[in-house]
Amino acid sequence: MPKFCFLCQIYFICALESSLRFISHRLLAIIDHLIITHHPRIMKNVDIIVKILAADYSELSPAQQQLVDLAREATLRSYAPYSQFHVGAAILLSDGNIVTGANQENAAFPSSTCAERTACYYAGANHPDARFEKIAIAARGTDGNEVDQPVPPCGACRQALLEYEKLAGHDVEVILVGRSSIFILPSVSSLLPLSFSQF
Ligand code: THU
Repeated sequence: MPKFCFLCQIYFICALESSLRFISHRLLAIIDHLIITHHPRIMKNVDIIVKILAADYSELSPAQQQLVDLAREATLRSYAPYSQFHVGAAILLSDGNIVTGANQENAAFPSSTCAERTACYYAGANHPDARFEKIAIAARGTDGNEVDQPVPPCGACRQALLEYEKLAGHDVEVILVGRSSIFILPSVSSLLPLSFSQF
């Protein structure tokens, strides 16, 4: 029986331990894979379908057209010296008022606010009893022209808008405006599946 020095023995034990750990890790991964592939019945796919209506401006109702016009106009009041991306939003309220908002940027970037949140917080602060009915969102790119394809709202704006949809107690139509196409979504929640709304 060869004699190993103390350090060699420690090294041997560590190497053995790490090989065993590697093997058991691989084994667990294989077992995990087998369980998943051989028990498909315990898991099922849940499909979430987002219904989007692609339309032309001429196909919109007068109320929708007015909202689109105002969202486009609101892009002109965007303050976006840093991104040069000008977003405008217009919200139709249940009392007939339409409030608009545009993105407002700040030298301290995180202090900036998107157009949708500017509009929806303005509505909440100034028309607290009115419910949201529809929102239109338009944008102009860095070249100053309207974006070709509609720009969907960022995640934070979706979450903020969702709050007002919940308050309204009914779907709030979302109209996303682009030069080549206009997308109409039935609700804010359709833009934010699996949303956080209760705690
Ligand atoms: N922006 C919006 O106003 N709304 C959105 O939903 C996405 C982005 C603004 C924020 C920023 O001023 C600029 O667009 C570029 O991200």
